[in-house]
Amino acid sequence: MRIAILKERAAGETRVAATPETVKKFIGLGATLAVEQGAGESASISDSAYADAGASLGSAADVVKDADIVLGVQAPDVMTLSGAKPGAWVAALFDPFGQKERVEAYAKAGFEALSMEFMPRITRAQSMDVLSSQSNLAGYKAVLAAANEYGRAFPMMMTAAGTVQAARVFIMGVGVAGLQAIATAKRLGAQVSATDVRSATREQIQSLGAKPIFVESVAGIEGEGSGGYATEMSEEYQKAQAELVSGHIAKQDIVITTALIPGRAAPRLISDEQIATMKPGSVIFDLAVAQGGNVEGSVPDQVVEKHGVKIMGFSNTPAHLAADTSALFARNHFNFLSAFWDKEQGRPVLDEEIGNAVRLTKGGEIVNERLKG
Ligand code: NAI
Repeated sequence: MRIAILKERAAGETRVAATPETVKKFIGLGATLAVEQGAGESASISDSAYADAGASLGSAADVVKDADIVLGVQAPDVMTLSGAKPGAWVAALFDPFGQKERVEAYAKAGFEALSMEFMPRITRAQSMDVLSSQSNLAGYKAVLAAANEYGRAFPMMMTAAGTVQAARVFIMGVGVAGLQAIATAKRLGAQVSATDVRSATREQIQSLGAKPIFVESVAGIEGEGSGGYATEMSEEYQKAQAELVSGHIAKQDIVITTALIPGRAAPRLISDEQIATMKPGSVIFDLAVAQGGNVEGSVPDQVVEKHGVKIMGFSNTPAHLAADTSALFARNHFNFLSAFWDKEQGRPVLDEEIGNAVRLTKGGEIVNERLKG
């Protein structure tokens, strides 16, 4: 069983899909590991660290040759995989709804594409879930990046020269990233409030010591669909939410938006009109900027100034802390494959529940139900 790790090729991608720790663990299962030279460089992992862990190093063509499994952060171009075994598995982020052509190319080439973002949200798959592991650190980084752009301090400070007021931070969308953003802003000493469409998050917000801001007037909303994800809300709800947010946002210094709905463009949460009500010097960080944006006027990797408010967001937030996000991503890969390792066959054999959820292509066909509909 030969596992190949390529250097990521997507622009701005600094992460790597395996670390010396996971290389060692895979070797412990009986696999052979091949890592492309320089694969870990932008995540602060040297070639010699991989070699010490037992991997062989070489060019992309060398490492892919006869590979049974290729692990990636973002799925590589099919061309890069020539020389891999027929039917080889490729486990990575595929962006299956956005990059249909790539999925088709994988099917045509006969590879088995395993989409890490389709990992089901079930308890036993938590340790394999890259969306959670990466969102967690992204939520942390969003707060730090916003704090860095903010021309004031976060904590209240009583000094001999007078008092510095605590920053007011509002988190919109309290999933994995939002919860970490609340915790990070609290640790920095801000006054934190948060909102979500899923009413289950109210208690989570309170348990972190932040103030929940919720639409109360619209009856019968739960906001939760399958797998704990948000559903698209009614027009009535959206209107009530916009009103509530408008009143609240005008008093905030920092707003972090994290709202996503799987398979759809990110919901618009803040309009230009609402931005105009904010104080000059306020900062909005749009974590959903790469998925269409929660904030009107946000542009990936730029700080846009409108009405005196700075609006920002990264196209790839996890890539801004590559050492930690790579370590967690690599463990997610290991937890996934090792959970299914068949000792007799010396390779992983996926079960139906998780296999059918993550498998996009097999035997020359697109086989995933979510892509067929
Ligand atoms: P996500 O990244 O899909 O969305 C982020 C947040 O935005 C969610 O909380 C969502 O409810 C919220 N949102 C969507 N539309 C909104 C709107 N119009 N206004 C305000 N907020 C809006 O969600 P994420 O972070 O992936 O987590 C969703 C849930 O899934 C959480 O409850 C999490 O604990 C659960 N989960 C379970 C896992 C497992 O059991 N293996 C793994 C990961 C998450």
